Amino acid sequence: MLRARIAGTGRATPDKVLTNDDLSKMVATSDEWINERTGIRERRILEEGRTTSDLASLAGRRACETAEIDPREVDCIIVATISPDMPMPAVAVTVQQKLGITGQCPAFDVSAACAGFIYGMSIADSFVKCGRYKRVLVIGVEILSRLVDWTDRNTCVLFGDGAGAALLVPHEGEDRGILSTHLFADGSGVPYLNIPGGGSAEPTTLKTVEAKRHLVKMQGKPVFTHAVKNISAAAKTALEANGKTPADVDWVVAHQANLRILEGVAERCGLPIEKFYLNIHKYGNTSSASIPIALDEAAREGKVKPGDLVLMAALGAGLSWGSALVRF
Ligand code: ACO
Repeated sequence: MLRARIAGTGRATPDKVLTNDDLSKMVATSDEWINERTGIRERRILEEGRTTSDLASLAGRRACETAEIDPREVDCIIVATISPDMPMPAVAVTVQQKLGITGQCPAFDVSAACAGFIYGMSIADSFVKCGRYKRVLVIGVEILSRLVDWTDRNTCVLFGDGAGAALLVPHEGEDRGILSTHLFADGSGVPYLNIPGGGSAEPTTLKTVEAKRHLVKMQGKPVFTHAVKNISAAAKTALEANGKTPADVDWVVAHQANLRILEGVAERCGLPIEKFYLNIHKYGNTSSASIPIALDEAAREGKVKPGDLVLMAALGAGLSWGSALVRF
């Protein structure tokens, strides 16, 4: 049986660390509040002058190095992001340039917010399985520090910057590869989490910028509730579709939005929290980058090993959500 296998992972996170104590000097918050409500202690912020494509191409290059594949052999690039270098063109084409890839290599972005990496991986999985492309680089990247309102304590404490990547290749056999992906969306969730300005609904004007309509707006409570419910449902769907039980799962590499969300998912799914790879305390919510960053860290730390059964699941703005079951 032909499957798509993750041949290599990579990540790139900025050096600059912003701690909860640093934030408490910027808005009315505290390390205690943030840590208790979210599990976040610090996050990374990209330095001025560097861009989404810089971090994305670095993570992509590292994934290729791990897979021992020259980036010039990549034949398709999918970048999951809601914070590209610019609204047009896709940041994936700039990543293609920065990786030195020329010629017949399609490159495009996927916009599914925090679920973006699962969406991107699902598309890549289909491309590889049907034989269309053989070296598909999937990158999740966000520079959300440039899209949050640093005077709004409801949102600015949650997010961080980073990039993660996975290189997918064909694999013959049952022992490795992506077993399934499941994608979902519910547009009734648009009001819960969005950037209202800058599109056709509210084109950018001086007024929209003064009103900060180009920055993230969020209603935390409904997002939280839907995240626990839908991530759990997607995780269960992944297991059921493959005839697996929670006991079969070696690692859960889920979207790192909030430790309490993941604890809720663990409880609903009957998965011990010890099986969840957690790094939210270090990076905050890096949206579409969170799963590939966590996967790369877990692999390099020797936690997620070749052959392990890894369950991935995420939910983000849209609402968009999904899951993937992978024999790593
Ligand atoms: N520091 C101190 N107080 C704060 C802060 C802060 N940073 N932020 C909000 N508050 C205040 C609010 O103003 C409110 O005060 P009020 O009651 O006087 O109006 C109060 O804290 C709200 O407290 P809680 O109801 O206890 O907050 P809650 O437990 O809902 O936690 C949180 C808020 C952390 C945002 C939670 O709702 C959440 O995590 N939601 C999910 C959001 C999320 O993950 N978004 C990311 C994108 S989507 C995704 O990745 C899944």
